[in-house]
Amino acid sequence: MAEQIGYSKEVMKRFTNPKHYGEIKNPDGVGEVGNPQCGDIMKVFLKVEKNKLKDVKFQTFGCVSAIAASDALCELAKGKTIEEAKKITNNAIVDKLEGLPAIKVHCSVLGANGLKKAILDYEGKHGKKVSKEELKKLDSEAEEEHHHSH
Ligand code: FES
Repeated sequence: MAEQIGYSKEVMKRFTNPKHYGEIKNPDGVGEVGNPQCGDIMKVFLKVEKNKLKDVKFQTFGCVSAIAASDALCELAKGKTIEEAKKITNNAIVDKLEGLPAIKVHCSVLGANGLKKAILDYEGKHGKKVSKEELKKLDSEAEEEHHHSH
């Protein structure tokens, strides 16, 4: 049960009523990350206008924290320039959620890295060279940060 591992009110609010859940039609960038250990997958969609993230939406098939983190991420990213959005860390997501239980912090990494991949996707479509290593790094970070709850 949620209370047992101590979710904040903010986490429960975003999990039960996410504001940014959905898909953007004809997105300018899409990023997908998954954690094979827990099986959670998140997808981030971007709409970019004049170098700013005009809209950010997510589709996450995952745990309570992953969904809440995705929603918080969208809120943090919306309206930011590409450069600002790239700097969003999973810690910023955790702060926005008023904390996550330690065993659930990895879920916020999915959010942060999903956004970074979506931005790379956007940049790749606009003539910027995207390094495969960077993509790989984002994937493996999402996997590595997983801590088992038992
Ligand atoms: Fe793996 Fe939340 S993303 S348990």
